[in-house]
Amino acid sequence: LYHVLGAKQFDREELEQLFSSAKAMEVVAGEGGTQRFPNKIMSTLFFEASTRTRFSFESAMHRLGGRVIGTENASQFSSAIKGETLEDMIRIIAGYSDLIVMRHTDIGAAKRAAAVSTVPVINAGDGSGEHPTQALLDLYTIEKEFGGIDGAHIAMIGDLTYGRTVHSLSYLLANYRNVHISFISPENVRIPSYVKQYLEEKGISYEETLDLEGIAKTADVFYQTRIQKERFPSPEEYAKAEGKYIIDRNLLNTMKDKAMILHPLPRAGEIHPDVDQDPRAAYFRQAVNGLYIRMALIEKCFE
Ligand code: CP
Repeated sequence: LYHVLGAKQFDREELEQLFSSAKAMEVVAGEGGTQRFPNKIMSTLFFEASTRTRFSFESAMHRLGGRVIGTENASQFSSAIKGETLEDMIRIIAGYSDLIVMRHTDIGAAKRAAAVSTVPVINAGDGSGEHPTQALLDLYTIEKEFGGIDGAHIAMIGDLTYGRTVHSLSYLLANYRNVHISFISPENVRIPSYVKQYLEEKGISYEETLDLEGIAKTADVFYQTRIQKERFPSPEEYAKAEGKYIIDRNLLNTMKDKAMILHPLPRAGEIHPDVDQDPRAAYFRQAVNGLYIRMALIEKCFE
């Protein structure tokens, strides 16, 4: 079975194949879709809230001619509320569908699900662990808009401790040559040591800094993230991190003409709406790319 559980599972060859497939999916989606998988059913099992990931996966499945089953909120409206284990739930849902896309509160939940599933499982976010499909669409956006990933200077900003997209993107970037990552965060949400260790093992150049203005002139990609209030252990800890790094028109004016601003979204004030009309603001285009990447991933699961 082909599962998508974490970003470390992807090598460069697979990434290139996936991006090529996503490019083809842009054409398919532009034509309204295809009846490629009329007999396939995808389950969406989301224990945490989602706009982009769930809607784009569901849209992707519909564009490929398949069908979707799921519940708005698996914590509340599945038998998890009666104490059913994740493993039992997956065993049951695997019998009703051909693919499970799951978002869960716990790190490692997707791996636990895959261990008992008889159908492919896609990790749509496991707590503060990983969000591999988001990182794939992030990288696809950089490839498309920057014209390649080798040699890029990427600034990751904000909540780097709990930010699962940042972890997955860091792992994917380890497949490329001469990339440099600047991690910019408040002191209490720094990039975890296990992510740094992985980058060191792969020979990836990185730095940690508190100084966003200092790298604004040199970075090619600004990957801004939300300070995730819901993941902090206390309101006091959240207050220490909140509002420290905001991309606004002043900062934008110091960036390169060809810079690119990404954000997995949702945002909560860390990118000022004034920035939205600037061509360097790529975050809404980035969200659309999620559809194409997820169409490509669904196809791969079924092949
Ligand atoms: N980027 C992302 O995962 O967005 P959602 O939480 O809305 O799915």
